[in-house]
Amino acid sequence: MKRIFTGLQPSGALHIGNYVGALKPFIDLSAEYDSMLMVADYHAITTLKNPTELRQNIIDIARDYVAAGIDPQKAVIFRQSDVPEHTELGWVFQCLVTVPFLQQAHAYKDKVAKGLEPNAGLFAYPMLMAADILLYDTDIVPVGADQRQHVEYAREAAAKFNNAYGETFKEPQERIIEATATVPGTDGKKMSKSYGNTIPLFGTREEIAEAVMSIVTDSSGERPENVYAIHRVVRNEGELQSLYESYKGKYKSLKEALIEDIDAFVSPMREKRDSISDDNVRAFLKDGAERARERASAKMRDVRAKMGLTI
Ligand code: TYM
Repeated sequence: MKRIFTGLQPSGALHIGNYVGALKPFIDLSAEYDSMLMVADYHAITTLKNPTELRQNIIDIARDYVAAGIDPQKAVIFRQSDVPEHTELGWVFQCLVTVPFLQQAHAYKDKVAKGLEPNAGLFAYPMLMAADILLYDTDIVPVGADQRQHVEYAREAAAKFNNAYGETFKEPQERIIEATATVPGTDGKKMSKSYGNTIPLFGTREEIAEAVMSIVTDSSGERPENVYAIHRVVRNEGELQSLYESYKGKYKSLKEALIEDIDAFVSPMREKRDSISDDNVRAFLKDGAERARERASAKMRDVRAKMGLTI
């Protein structure tokens, strides 16, 4: 069975872009693939320094995975920091790639341009992500468009290692669904936790309403494009054509319709989410960590032996 792998950072509440860009494609494939879904907590500490918040976010995001429809009995759901082989292999890859190569990473450049501290972890981030993917001989990585280059970097890390030490890692492929590759936020730019333009996946109705009402509309066109661009993620385009035709120019009504549609889209997941306790989350993460670690440690034994790190 081929394997899919993806991860999300517990750096804040999940938003609709995370769901339709990564989680939904992962869920759609998970029936036919051996599936692994990671909480990328070591990635999150490149930016999040508050321990209380991090702890809560880890529990919340793992709960969200299950609420969104991932079965922890089937998929391996685990936390990156529970499997030390990730940081170990990340180090190995850092020793194989050059500084100029990492300097070309768009995500790093964007984050620094936004004023984030360019700590060394943020810089080396793509090699930790390469380790996440390559440790498990992943075939497919479902992600949004902003992660395309990171998966290319993982292929590059695999090729570099294989050239230096012999065939060890499989080169993975990203899976990006065109229609939801970059979901726009309330300001029309990419929806992103760090831009403050998100619609939270598990927000209350009031939070969703507040976010939708803040969508920037441009009165010059026939159709409020920023509203429509988010709407098409939660409702089919055929229905939207007639809705937007009949409410032409009535931006407030269209936003109200969007609130209804997001609410209808999220409410079954919200109910499921309420039924998952913190202890349930701890239990399936523990089980996931054991299953992931078994695979990761076997792979690292091979890596160490090939590199001359066994005597
Ligand atoms: P992160 O936490 O920033 O985002 C998680 C996933 O959500 C997707 N995404 C979007 N998709 C569509 N439209 C948007 N507006 C949008 N915003 C975010 C992202 O593309 C991503 O798929 N580096 C990763 C986490 C990671 C990872 C991995 C992913 C760590 N190790 C291994 C895959 C495999 C990240 O920062 O995602």
